[in-house]
Amino acid sequence: MGARQDYVHGYSGRERERLADQADTLAELLHSDTFYPSGSVVLEVGCGVGAQTVTLARRSPEARIVAMDISEDSLAAAQESIRSAGFRNVRFQQADVYSMAFAPDTFDHVFACFVLEHLSRPREALAYLGQVLKPGGTITVIEGDHGSAYFHPDSPYARQAIRCLIELQARAGGDSLIGRTLYPLLLESGFQHVTVSPRMVYVDSSRPQLVEGFTKNTFIAMVEGVRARALAAGLIDEETWEKGIRDLYRTAEADGTFCYAFFKAVARR
Ligand SMILES: C[S@@+](CC[C@H](N)C(=O)[O-])C[C@H]1O[C@@H](n2cnc3c(N)ncnc32)[C@H](O)[C@@H]1O
Repeated sequence: MGARQDYVHGYSGRERERLADQADTLAELLHSDTFYPSGSVVLEVGCGVGAQTVTLARRSPEARIVAMDISEDSLAAAQESIRSAGFRNVRFQQADVYSMAFAPDTFDHVFACFVLEHLSRPREALAYLGQVLKPGGTITVIEGDHGSAYFHPDSPYARQAIRCLIELQARAGGDSLIGRTLYPLLLESGFQHVTVSPRMVYVDSSRPQLVEGFTKNTFIAMVEGVRARALAAGLIDEETWEKGIRDLYRTAEADGTFCYAFFKAVARR
């Protein structure tokens, strides 16, 4: 269960809301081309509280989705949100991606969103996922890359606060800069026909939904979530941290802008 204890974002109520905001805001950008045909069996890895699961179930109502996560609490929340949304094409399973009990060649498709960035051995995880995928089946991986965040007004303090998140995630064995590496990662893990498409989020005040849903409630909330650990680890002093967070919120004002890139990779076994 080491992965759970080290999980940089934790499992708090605010983190649940953040994941839901993130998924709602980004659904079109990330999922407009995610569709699984009738009867296909899809494994969603690291479904968390089900923020992406709801979109998968809605977009592919005739696919059968198996959503798994290492966290029992997250799975319970995911189950509840699928139940209350009225979907019947998802079943849930608690599992660790490194020791899954699925038989080889079980799934037509595998889907993983914002999971590899938290794993210390992403190649190994991908190799396991390749084994449970049928020959010719596809894997879809979506990841962010915190190095892709840039904004106006620029601020060295804001960049320092973001660095704290990157560093803490790295110390926990993860890699929040993983988006840019998906192409080699999938090839090195034995997948073929890898295609990666960057999905850029650009926010200014003419897009108030993105200001709230992405800049504030997804990105800044994620950085703010590591405040206590960043200070305790001595990565930053309190004054610099507060300036950094204030400057991040400054980018959400009328004359501010914020940019970030996600990467969506699709490959075949
Ligand atoms: C950032 S959350 C993403 C959740 C969801 N995919 C989403 O986009 O909202 C990462 C998830 O990966 C799960 N996770 C971490 N390590 C895992 C492992 N070894 N096996 C299975 N799930 C794992 C965590 O419990 C967490 O729910």
